[in-house]
Amino acid sequence: MLDVRNVSKVYEGKVAYQALSNLNLTVQKGEFVGVMGPSGSGKTTLLHVVSTIDKPSSGEVMIDGKNTHQLNKRQLALFRRRELGFVFQDFNLLQTLTVKENIVFPLTLENVSVREQDERVNRIADKLGIADILNKRTYEISGGQCQRTAIARAIIHDPKLILADEPTGNLDSKAAKDVLETLEKLNKDDGATMMMVTHDSQAASYCDRVIFIKDGSLYRELRRTDSRQMFFQEIMGVLSSIGGTEDEFSSIRI
Ligand SMILES: Nc1ncnc2c1ncn2[C@@H]1O[C@H](COP(=O)(O)OP(=O)(O)O)[C@@H](O)[C@H]1O
Ligand SMILES: [Mg+2]
Repeated sequence: MLDVRNVSKVYEGKVAYQALSNLNLTVQKGEFVGVMGPSGSGKTTLLHVVSTIDKPSSGEVMIDGKNTHQLNKRQLALFRRRELGFVFQDFNLLQTLTVKENIVFPLTLENVSVREQDERVNRIADKLGIADILNKRTYEISGGQCQRTAIARAIIHDPKLILADEPTGNLDSKAAKDVLETLEKLNKDDGATMMMVTHDSQAASYCDRVIFIKDGSLYRELRRTDSRQMFFQEIMGVLSSIGGTEDEFSSIRI
């Protein structure tokens, strides 16, 4: 489904930063992959390159057999809108719209009939447990409900790949759990393919597989074989071996 081949990313500037170095990653259809690593290790850069928001300096990103960085601007915009779903840390909802209006927003850009929009919203809202807040505005609902609304918006057009950057970063632990269970359910019941960046081991333990990035390179990879609790312990182990804080400001200078 997703194939990241030998991707490097250099941010040009007064001092050039190599944020990613020859990274390879394959995500199978229906897989839920977590991306972890110290602050500044390149997680967001990887997500941006995969999501076509940013271009790699070298290497290729294939999504469903398409070399995304060969698409022109217009094709890219369409590709993003139709094939990808985004979930952000700060939800990115439009305050002036209701929950329902936020969710159908991507469909209004396509020519989807109002009837079909309604059908899809109702089905997804039921599944995500937000059916009773569809007519509320985003300032009237909780953080967890905001994120579930954002997830509903991310999946309303049936994307091939869902990309999430710290989706639980702004939530308390109860709301985070709800959101993670929602993502897990989409993955297990609907076979959604997902890639989630997180610094939270608890969140990562919901994934099938977690890749660890250090200084822009793949450091390790863990696959969940046992209970979530066991996986959580293994993840904590790798994180302590990576070393967190001393890498906080590190990046490769070239
Ligand atoms: N637009 C940019 N221009 C220059 N450097 C950047 C830019 N974005 C990120 N970086 C640098 O690239 C490295 C990786 O950043 P990022 O991918 O955001 O890391 P993470 O998400 O793992 O914290 C950091 O050293 C960061 O300062
Ligand atoms: Mg980041």
